[in-house]
Amino acid sequence: MANTIFRTKKVEQSILDTEEPEHALKKSLSALDLTVFGVGVIIGTGIFVLTGTVAKNNAGPAVALAFVAAGVACALAALCYAEFASTVPVAGSAYTFSYASLGELPAWIIGWDLVLEFALGTAVVAVGWSGYVQSLMDNAGWEMPAELGSREGAGEFGFDILAFALVLVLTGILVLGMKLSARITSLVVAIKVTVVLTVIIAGAFFIESDNYDPFIPKTQTVEAGESLQAPLIQLMFGWAPSNFGVMGIFTAASVVFFAFIGFDVVATAAEETRNPQRDMPRGIIGSLLICTALYVAVSIVVTGMQHYSELSVDAPLADAFKATGHPWFAGFISFGAAVGLTTVCMILLLGQTRVFFAMSRDGLLPRFFSHVHPRFKTPHRPTILLGVIIAILAGFTPLTELAALVNIGTLFAFVVVSIGVIILRKTRPDLHRAFRTPWVPVIPILSVCASLWLMINLPAETWVRFAIWMVVGFFVYFLYGQSHSRLGRHEETTVGQVMKPPRGDAE
Ligand code: ALA
Repeated sequence: MANTIFRTKKVEQSILDTEEPEHALKKSLSALDLTVFGVGVIIGTGIFVLTGTVAKNNAGPAVALAFVAAGVACALAALCYAEFASTVPVAGSAYTFSYASLGELPAWIIGWDLVLEFALGTAVVAVGWSGYVQSLMDNAGWEMPAELGSREGAGEFGFDILAFALVLVLTGILVLGMKLSARITSLVVAIKVTVVLTVIIAGAFFIESDNYDPFIPKTQTVEAGESLQAPLIQLMFGWAPSNFGVMGIFTAASVVFFAFIGFDVVATAAEETRNPQRDMPRGIIGSLLICTALYVAVSIVVTGMQHYSELSVDAPLADAFKATGHPWFAGFISFGAAVGLTTVCMILLLGQTRVFFAMSRDGLLPRFFSHVHPRFKTPHRPTILLGVIIAILAGFTPLTELAALVNIGTLFAFVVVSIGVIILRKTRPDLHRAFRTPWVPVIPILSVCASLWLMINLPAETWVRFAIWMVVGFFVYFLYGQSHSRLGRHEETTVGQVMKPPRGDAE
């Protein structure tokens, strides 16, 4: 049993699989494409929406420190991702990495976990996008019927038709091909970065230093309501549930972590990169650095423009400009946010389909999904299947609590990848590593600790939901994946050899 669930897929085998013509993706992306992709997916709902919520409820102006804390955790993980992605340049990100280092069951767990991250993340961002579009429509005097608008405001029945439509359109674009997607992305990313820079530069003129007093608001005990809503760490140590203060910064960090999600998606495009050994680390670390600097600057400016207790929860960046009497800027920012969130959504959807594709290519999910389109060279089947499911999910999903679930899934993946770096160094010291994580095992261990720390700062109920999802995953693996695993089938005939898999493998 242990032999089966901890069997590892050789790195060379993973690379060989990608060379089979009918399962091969087109290699067309450069380091710049990857960085643009990274920035395209990283800057989104996190900075445009969550900044206001956490400043108001958890951290005050110290939300900037929360961004720094979350950024540090991500940077540590990024150093580990970069080594793995440049060593195992195969679609599937953390899933593929764990298959090569930790074994089949851990790989399955991580793949299942990434489905949670990307699918729910796509839905959450689509709903956030719909909110911004509706606010722009309101400005122009067009109002959506409540049942077809935001889920939060709807009565008995609510279906967010804009979020639903967005996901379907993006699915179509992804089926047509990576290169087309990258071109659209570049344009949108340029608009988004311009808007963020506008917030920073224009906003700096409207800062009132009084708003930074106090920079770290005093700890406030909150009404003991549903205890499961408190961060796990408070329950673990029996602390009274509280907001603000130093611990509030960490609670805020575990939420704004959502703003950084996406640099790991860059790793999922490794197989479609022209020179992954050189370009992956540049793409991952470059996009992360750019975004961290922008986030810290934006949060300092916005909490300086308006007192944290008055920040808006729906559109804090735009509304801070309204509050200082500059509605023109507010409209421009809303427009940029609406445009910018489309790329976030698209790239999360892309990451999702690639993980699913890699898992099905390995036989852990039906092989039917691992054929690429003969003309577009994209994995059209999982793209269409997942696109439709996520579109429906986006139509019916209220966003707030799901963002925490996305965070816990991602942090868990970081933990596994960081451990994987240490293991792969020991088990495969011979592999060529274009990028080597510095100070192994110190950096990976710090990365594990930082991710776990943010995880225990998430609400206890998020942990419960996460546990349920993972238990379902175990059932699926033992009922399907374990017996259909391609690696398992090859092992029955060729123990431990790297070989070209037979054609016409079971579908
Ligand atoms: N980092 C992305 C966002 O903030 C997922 O929307």
